[in-house]
Amino acid sequence: RDDDVIGLSNPRHLANVWCMPILTIESTCDETAAAVIANDGAVLGQCVATQEALHERFGGVVPEVAARAHLERILPVIDMAMSQSGITAGQLDAVAVADRPGLAGSLLVGLVCAKTLAVAWKKPLVAVNHLHAHLYACQMAVTESVYPCVGLVVSGGHTSLYHCTSPLDLAYLGGTIDDAAGEAFDKVAAMLGLGFPGGPAVSKWANRGDRNAYSFPRSMVHDDNFDFSFSGLKTAVRYAIVGPGHQDFPKLDVPEKTKADLCASFEAAVIDVLVAKCERAVAKCRCRRLIVGGGVAANGYLREQLQTSAVENDYTLTVAPMKLCTDNAIMGAIALEKIRRGEFASLDLDVTPGLQRGF
Ligand code: KG4
Ligand code: ZN
Repeated sequence: RDDDVIGLSNPRHLANVWCMPILTIESTCDETAAAVIANDGAVLGQCVATQEALHERFGGVVPEVAARAHLERILPVIDMAMSQSGITAGQLDAVAVADRPGLAGSLLVGLVCAKTLAVAWKKPLVAVNHLHAHLYACQMAVTESVYPCVGLVVSGGHTSLYHCTSPLDLAYLGGTIDDAAGEAFDKVAAMLGLGFPGGPAVSKWANRGDRNAYSFPRSMVHDDNFDFSFSGLKTAVRYAIVGPGHQDFPKLDVPEKTKADLCASFEAAVIDVLVAKCERAVAKCRCRRLIVGGGVAANGYLREQLQTSAVENDYTLTVAPMKLCTDNAIMGAIALEKIRRGEFASLDLDVTPGLQRGF
């Protein structure tokens, strides 16, 4: 439970209790989250139950474990968001849920729960694209419209660039052809025994290291497209740690300085490519703004490098607020945009895990 989140300290929400609010549900990966959001975007209540402790010993999210944990947590999480808001079910305008992309089992728990509540409470159902919601978190941070813009979603499951002309009109420009950037952070952290999720740990070690100590590959950085590839980088880090042929990571005793240098050089390689492709996309789309969301958008070095790029290339940078970078239900406020357009989902809606590219 976290009261210090945007909207909650804002007295606007007290004046707006009469507004028909919506309930948003998020369960795409390993965070079970719900929020109650007024129709002006003010957050009336929210709750996120993280599963980090459950997945830590595996060094990554285990889909079956995640789905079962969602099942246990989803009703208490919704209860908490609702009671924090002071809103009753009868006062809700709609129930929104992230139906794509994500882990099939995890998505199913949220969707079945949302459908059940929609039927029981006689409320319309709204489907939210989780990646579009990550980008909408950027719009929630500023008062002016961020559109048109280039949007970068950089998370544990996705690394994708879009040309966005509105919160709901996004043209896919390109994305990773193998691992997502966050996944690479998690794998490198696992190799170095830094725990899970790996991003924050790698970033902490990186701040003490030399970014030029290892010359890791910047895959596809010069390719004339908006695609990414991080699996070669992951392998390069692996070879730098153990050398080819050796696989026994748990027995490795990597000196602290080497760990810091590996993290710093790895982070620099990921971020150089992300920044270069964003610059290319901003130029190609002739946009004057870049928005960035998803878990990896919490990375301090990425935020810093993008800010430098924005100044040098004369575009405005809007990164999602720190608390809205990793998965949460507040960014499900994008459902309000769908309601304004009259876009509701039918009760035979199914999940779209989306193993293919191009979401
Ligand atoms: O958006 P998110 O919560 O879940 C997905 O939709 O995938 O992103 C989680 C990812 C994890 O891979 C995590 O390691 C990464 O975001 N992450 C970071 C940082 N904080 C979280 N990566 C780099 N630096 C960070 N500070
Ligand atoms: Zn996410």
